[in-house]
Amino acid sequence: MNDARPPEASSAPARPDTPPAAPRRPFGAHGFDAPALGLGAGPLGAASLEEDAVDRVLGSALERGVTLIDTAPSYGRSEERLGRHLEGRREGVLLSTKLGYGVEGAPDWTGECIRRGVHQALRRLRTERLDLAFLHSCPPETLAREDVLAALRDAVEAGDVRGAGYSGDGPGLRAAKREPLFGAFQVSHNLVDQEALEEGLPAGAGVLAKRPLLNAVFAGLGDAPSPDRLELRQRFERLPPALRAPALPGGVAELALRFAAFAPGVHTTLVGTTRPAHLEANLDALARGPLPASLREAIRGAWAAHRWPGLV
Ligand SMILES: NC(=O)c1ccc[n+]([C@@H]2O[C@H](COP(=O)([O-])OP(=O)(O)OC[C@H]3O[C@@H](n4cnc5c(N)ncnc54)[C@H](OP(=O)(O)O)[C@@H]3O)[C@@H](O)[C@H]2O)c1
Repeated sequence: MNDARPPEASSAPARPDTPPAAPRRPFGAHGFDAPALGLGAGPLGAASLEEDAVDRVLGSALERGVTLIDTAPSYGRSEERLGRHLEGRREGVLLSTKLGYGVEGAPDWTGECIRRGVHQALRRLRTERLDLAFLHSCPPETLAREDVLAALRDAVEAGDVRGAGYSGDGPGLRAAKREPLFGAFQVSHNLVDQEALEEGLPAGAGVLAKRPLLNAVFAGLGDAPSPDRLELRQRFERLPPALRAPALPGGVAELALRFAAFAPGVHTTLVGTTRPAHLEANLDALARGPLPASLREAIRGAWAAHRWPGLV
């Protein structure tokens, strides 16, 4: 059984030759701690990724206290791979996944799909309990379905799900905030997407910032970019030059991560990566602490000048 206790390493005094571990924080009013840096395991689901690469990034993450891992049934082979690669090292890891679709024989967004989706996730992740389970970005109409909410509530009462949450932004998030079942929220928060936090989240909720590096669109768009990536890139190009090329050791990735991770109300930032070197760079950036107030204010001001809506 997983207790997700904070690892001993995080409370040990840092030695100068020890690379920084992810700092930990109380996760809202949930009664457990979570690392300020979590691993977005979307990219770990790619069929093109070698199993060794999955093992390497997970190994680095666990070694450095990046012990909250977020996945979803829509992330390719991610859930199944996490189950295999975390076998024997599940203790102390907070596993988070999403629900609402992708269960053979059960119509999406029904109570049956939630019920069977919980068991499918437990099986794939090879665990007895999901630490966090989020409804994955459904619209307000779905949140009005009592069968969906009842199935999630039952899973919490049965102990299969430790914390129920909603992952998404915009109208779905606004509706979800009114539902007391949700004690955790996964929302976009980055240089160009601040609507969810600006509008506020319920007191005591655990908050995970997704897309904290704005999908790394600052590094280029890649082939056939999705509409979201195009939108993020367009927003990024409208930031002042000082924010697009900041004088920080880790450049704009560092600016983005330190902004998101130290935003008031954020407990965990979920960064998707398949590269241990990026994980290390992100931990180094976090170890440099909150951004100076002048930079924070410039970022808040740049967003407020446009008030771009939240991207799911
Ligand atoms: N609706 C939803 O529920 C929803 C939507 C979006 C995201 N999410 C969650 O949030 C997680 C993170 O979101 P995301 O992956 O979309 O966006 P993200 O974390 O903002 O960006 C991920 C990208 O950043 C790159 N990266 C990581 N560290 C870097 C560094 N130090 N320097 C430069 N590039 C770096 C990664 O590439 P490399 O692999 O090359 O490192 C990857 O391409 C997801 O995995 C998922 O768990 C949920």
